[in-house]
Amino acid sequence: MNIKLVTLKKDAFYISKYIHSVFFEYFGRVIYDGIWVGRDSCVPNIDGIRLDVIEGCRELGIGAMRWPGGCCADHYHWKNGIGKERPPRMHPMPDKANQVWRHDFGTDEFLRLCELTGAEPIITVNTATGSTEEFLDWFEYVNAPKETKYGAMRAENGHPEPYNVRYWGIGNTDENVWHIDYNNPVAYAQDYLKYQTVVRDDRKNLRFIGLGLSMRHGLPGWPGKALDHITRNQRAVPPDLLSIHHYVGGAKQGGQLCGDAINFDDNAYYALLGLLDRYQYDIDLHKMVIREHAGPGAKTKICFDEWGIWHPEATTANNLNQRQTLRDAIFAALSLHIFYRNSDIVEFAMETQLCNLLQSLFETSGEKCFRTPTFYVMKLLKEHLGQRLIHVLPDDVDDFIDTVASISEDGSQITVSIVNKHLYDGKQLSLQLPSDGWRVAKADILTADEIHAMNTFDSPEVIRDCPFQMDAFPSFTLPPHSVLRICLQK
Ligand code: AHR
Repeated sequence: MNIKLVTLKKDAFYISKYIHSVFFEYFGRVIYDGIWVGRDSCVPNIDGIRLDVIEGCRELGIGAMRWPGGCCADHYHWKNGIGKERPPRMHPMPDKANQVWRHDFGTDEFLRLCELTGAEPIITVNTATGSTEEFLDWFEYVNAPKETKYGAMRAENGHPEPYNVRYWGIGNTDENVWHIDYNNPVAYAQDYLKYQTVVRDDRKNLRFIGLGLSMRHGLPGWPGKALDHITRNQRAVPPDLLSIHHYVGGAKQGGQLCGDAINFDDNAYYALLGLLDRYQYDIDLHKMVIREHAGPGAKTKICFDEWGIWHPEATTANNLNQRQTLRDAIFAALSLHIFYRNSDIVEFAMETQLCNLLQSLFETSGEKCFRTPTFYVMKLLKEHLGQRLIHVLPDDVDDFIDTVASISEDGSQITVSIVNKHLYDGKQLSLQLPSDGWRVAKADILTADEIHAMNTFDSPEVIRDCPFQMDAFPSFTLPPHSVLRICLQK
């Protein structure tokens, strides 16, 4: 198959750097052991945060970090997590009734992690058990000068300058579970308006994330009704972003058809990849809803702030931890391809969660840490970020091949990534470039002998990016179950 690359006219959209973003909260070992080890730990750290995680995030150029939830945001009271006195509190999640909630990692530690990694912070406010007053206090702690009550408290805790956090998530998209009332979109819209309005004067520097759909409630009309209510007051502006959550896999949509994390057959492999159509559906649905319900000229974007696979092994009994095989890597690459292609509307996408939970980037245990297949997919594909999309025109139909191409702002670099989903067949491919004079600057591939291959503490790099020989460029054979990324330069 020949794949022709055609540059679009100048106004073609850019792939947002925030598509490689992450989310984390106080579940299991995500934060304690995963991110935070404490300043006195023998695990190498900067200000209590694991060095291996900081370095890995820097290497990936993680765009944004969302915290403190998720579900945990609905129970997070920020004053528990600042200053010297931080007694643990009861963890209120149903399955955590007997556990305590440590607060060593709080607002300053989260924002320190963002500073250390260069990630944009996104704070989700507590609209469930919190109040607008608590939100305003938090906002003042984070963003106001040190002459204010909470700004002074921040200065006393070591950060005299405001952090200037721009992105605030209003609630967590988990309507059925924690927000009983949020099945009623008007109830959410009323809350949203209250939270947005209390800081209205700063609106030009702020971006609010309102709720779109989470996969659980199956109410496709919900976001439109919420937006109608938000925008019907002429002084109210629509959210800057709408959030979407969607997990697929054995424990969620797809069920038994997808097998489990390690034990799956060929049909389960293809069944899981087939569910990626749902991500495109989510994006199309929200795009339409924004067009029809966010008011004329609305610039509302999508924040796909929880995506990934939820395997049956990830139960509360094992802290939602699961193994990742090459199948998870192929799934991650195809998900990112969907987000890149929809960069006109998708501004953020967050893999879930940073360490030790679901489709994480790192697995840690005490001093040990390894990078998951999803980490290496993000590393492989990061050259696309900030580049302009290029049209991809294959001369044949092959559903196993999925291609994205992009070009740098100055037109000097083209990045092409191609996934071969087929479990057994290599694919003969060739690229037709938009003009002459392009040479391969680097080409790397992520694959393994077998789809069930995985990284472990003992063998941490079974799945990772490796150089790929392109001696016969522009023709090449793409091995089965692989992700290839080629960087071309003039
Ligand atoms: O990522 C785990 C949980 O799944 C999040 O807390 C919640 O938002 C989602 O339903």
